[in-house]
Amino acid sequence: MLDFTINTCSGSVLTEYKSEGARIQIYQSEDGYCYNVSYAFPYSDKVGEYVYKVVEYLTAHQIIRPNVTREELGKLVEMAMADVGVPKQLRAAVRYYVQLEAADYSYLTPLLYDIMLENININGVDVPIYVDHREYGYNIETNIVPKNRENLIKIVGRVYAESGRPLNEQYPIQDTYIKLRNGALLRFATAMSTRVARNSPYVSIRVQPPLPISPTELIKRRTISPLAMAYLWYLFEHHKSIMVIGGTGAGKTTVLNALLVLLPHKRLAIAEETPEIRVPPTYQNVIMLYTSPMYDYMKNLPGSESAIYLIDLVKYLLRARPDIVVIGESRGREIHELIQGVLTGHGGGTTFHAEDITEVFMRLIGETIGVSAEHISAFHVVTTVKKLEIGRRVTAITEVVWLRVHPYVIPTKMKIKDEEYGLINVGWYDPKTDGVEVDLKKSYWLHKLGGYDEVIERAKFLTVLTERGILEAGKVEEAVRNYYREHALVRKT
Ligand SMILES: Nc1ncnc2c1ncn2[C@@H]1O[C@H](COP(=O)(O)OP(=O)(O)OP(=O)(O)O)[C@@H](O)[C@H]1O
Ligand SMILES: [Mg+2]
Repeated sequence: MLDFTINTCSGSVLTEYKSEGARIQIYQSEDGYCYNVSYAFPYSDKVGEYVYKVVEYLTAHQIIRPNVTREELGKLVEMAMADVGVPKQLRAAVRYYVQLEAADYSYLTPLLYDIMLENININGVDVPIYVDHREYGYNIETNIVPKNRENLIKIVGRVYAESGRPLNEQYPIQDTYIKLRNGALLRFATAMSTRVARNSPYVSIRVQPPLPISPTELIKRRTISPLAMAYLWYLFEHHKSIMVIGGTGAGKTTVLNALLVLLPHKRLAIAEETPEIRVPPTYQNVIMLYTSPMYDYMKNLPGSESAIYLIDLVKYLLRARPDIVVIGESRGREIHELIQGVLTGHGGGTTFHAEDITEVFMRLIGETIGVSAEHISAFHVVTTVKKLEIGRRVTAITEVVWLRVHPYVIPTKMKIKDEEYGLINVGWYDPKTDGVEVDLKKSYWLHKLGGYDEVIERAKFLTVLTERGILEAGKVEEAVRNYYREHALVRKT
């Protein structure tokens, strides 16, 4: 028997596609959506019994080695099937399920390779796996039910073995990430032991597709408008700092990442806790660093490595002569390094967890982070994203102007300790049109840079790209390079 059961979804099929040899169907019924995996061969108890026997055989003969290739495994399975006496008509199915068990991540493989998924949630055994789907929304039940705790832990354990982080009774709660063959990045958060979990293992997997969501894709999804994107693009390119704020999973990193797809001529330097940000493969003048923390279990190992924190990375980035410094997510004192970078003329981008701009500044000047009131001037534009019922939307674009240095603007004022800041609402979300409106005339930074017409031009360009269906990040980047060429902008930037 295989250690999972396959239920059947009910309702009607809305869509269907392939993932790693399996067929994925989305069903709709009055209970909502259901995510149905059909493996390449139909599964029956008879097939399961033979799979079990073959796996037993292979294990007893100690044939399954960790580094066995698919071809080798194929031959071994044929041999085992002959010895076990699998009937001819079942061989194709048995072969398939044995390979599924032995290769990659067993029956989880099609789910893990499905980049239409945003999250995969395994809730222990005897309950279905749930998924969040990029097209069909959240908390969708699947037809896959894990049955065997040990087996499931073993499958998830493969991921941890690959990444070198322990997942065992001593360290039952552990995060890790892996990169799959298709280029997708998976972030795992696991609670594997009955020591801590009622129905272990709990596994939450965030799926990051190989290429970032492109600027045009964001426009198509109405997360942002062409004009708002063009405006941010222009300012970012001219070394105004961009901070994207919002709640958990609001889409902050995605917006920041999309902007980077528009800057192929810049030397980018990116520091992150986990490697989330992606750039098109044609980006070569780029450095991307991630932290190497010291885990509890490493401390007493002889010759153990030192911990490398975000702040170390950002300090290094500033020495690497970048045009634009990016911190994936700022949470602590590393933001001081970013501020130094911006104040010395670099471009800067980061995300920050906060619901609105007041919270951002209060947290920044608070005791934990300790940014001085003058240094708030390093933040030029703050973009807010929210996860609304209808999808993710940019809900505000706010310029921040230090009034002591730029005394001529008189917008909304905000007092931060002894300093006065002007806040200009350049962009906002209009629920009536479901659009992100931007008033360029209000912009102080654009007024200083003088790029009004250029922003309009770029907004048109982004609109046309979106309408033509140029949505893939690599294709957008190519079009952007052409845009710069045609507009003879390369030298100037
Ligand atoms: N505008 C969008 N449209 C569709 N999917 C999106 C959009 N923005 C983000 N996503 C998806 O939502 C998930 C979370 O997005 P993202 O990581 O950008 O959020 P975040 O705010 O940075 O989250 P965190 O709080 O974890 O840092 C990702 O899988 C991403 O692909
Ligand atoms: Mg993020």
